[in-house]
Amino acid sequence: MPASPTAPGPASPPVYWDYLSLPGLLAQQGGLDGNPSPDELHFIIVHQAFELWFKLVLSQLRLARDHLAAAHLPEEQVPFVVHHIGRVNVILRHCVDQFAVMETLPPQDFLAFRDKLTPASGFQSFQLREVEILLGLKNEDRVALGGIKPEAHIQNVGKSSPFDAYARLQATQMEVTLRDALHNWLMRTPIQGSSMNDPGDEGVVDGFLAEYLDHVRAHGEQTLAGLVAALGEGERAKMEPRIKMTLDEARKFLLIEDRAVRRARAGLLFIESYRELPLLAWPRLLIDTVVELEEQMLLFRNRHARMVERVIGRRIGTGGSSGVEYLDKTTAYRTFPELWTVRSTLLPRAMLPALRRREKYGVE
Ligand code: HEM
Repeated sequence: MPASPTAPGPASPPVYWDYLSLPGLLAQQGGLDGNPSPDELHFIIVHQAFELWFKLVLSQLRLARDHLAAAHLPEEQVPFVVHHIGRVNVILRHCVDQFAVMETLPPQDFLAFRDKLTPASGFQSFQLREVEILLGLKNEDRVALGGIKPEAHIQNVGKSSPFDAYARLQATQMEVTLRDALHNWLMRTPIQGSSMNDPGDEGVVDGFLAEYLDHVRAHGEQTLAGLVAALGEGERAKMEPRIKMTLDEARKFLLIEDRAVRRARAGLLFIESYRELPLLAWPRLLIDTVVELEEQMLLFRNRHARMVERVIGRRIGTGGSSGVEYLDKTTAYRTFPELWTVRSTLLPRAMLPALRRREKYGVE
């Protein structure tokens, strides 16, 4: 007997549009009045595409964070962290390029429907806020929009929406951030063969840092001598304070009083300095991937700001901010400042302190 067309049997093959919920998805572009103009349809779809990517970014960041936050991260698990953050980086790069699609909207065509959106704005993208929170951006480090921080803003505007975006942000606030997970992992880096709980570890770490800073001083003297030889003795007075400043900054950064932070920074310095050691191969890739993550976030912010400047110039945003001026300020955000600061302290390989207990790092 032929199967009833209304009741497909359990073995019926999956259908593409059902699997992807396409009928529902494609019915979500109606905007405020259910009848968007072709330009508004463009505007809505571009935003929705970004929000879908943000959803994937969040899921990948959580996977990376879960691995990294483990009390013990076995060597063979590090590639998983690199894999998930690497995927986020590719998505963000893609998002940066995607702003070009938005830019095909000429300023006057946007003005035709812009006013009706007010005060809705990308400022209310709770998913981007979740990404920022999950990375570890602190609320106090944010630029305030018209005196109001993003979370308070979402709490306020959320009152007129049936969807509780603020509850999502609050739940995310309770999670371990990628920044904290990275810090705790860095803190456990073996330094000159000494692990965090080994007897005498503090002495080994401090000894390594003292020796390293001594080499930074020697490198500074060498650089100064080279500059004076090239530019003339008259330049010494100008160059000397700059070289001294580099050493002072390195001291301040590496000899921070908080022991946990000091050990994490020493771990970071160690991984960056002895990058070629077999056992540091994956840790160094992990650091590189997080640096790229922050770089992609900054490129995203910058590209968005340039696109906005092209479309609306320097006028205020629908969310009420100063517009491009506000957006440019957000390009100063750094969630992983240590990963950038350490770069100013690095030495040429030939000037590194000698490696001790080489066998601990996979070297004969
Ligand atoms: C013509 C297109 C666009 C214009 C004119 C525009 C303009 C603006 C402005 C002026 C702001 C500052 C807040 C305000 O006062 O409203 C803002 C924030 C934001 N926009 Fe856009 N935007 C556009 C497209 C997009 C797209 C396609 C996305 C992708 C998701 C996006 C995401 C965001 C986000 C996440 C913020 C918050 C940034 C932050 O506070 O760090 N925008 N936008």
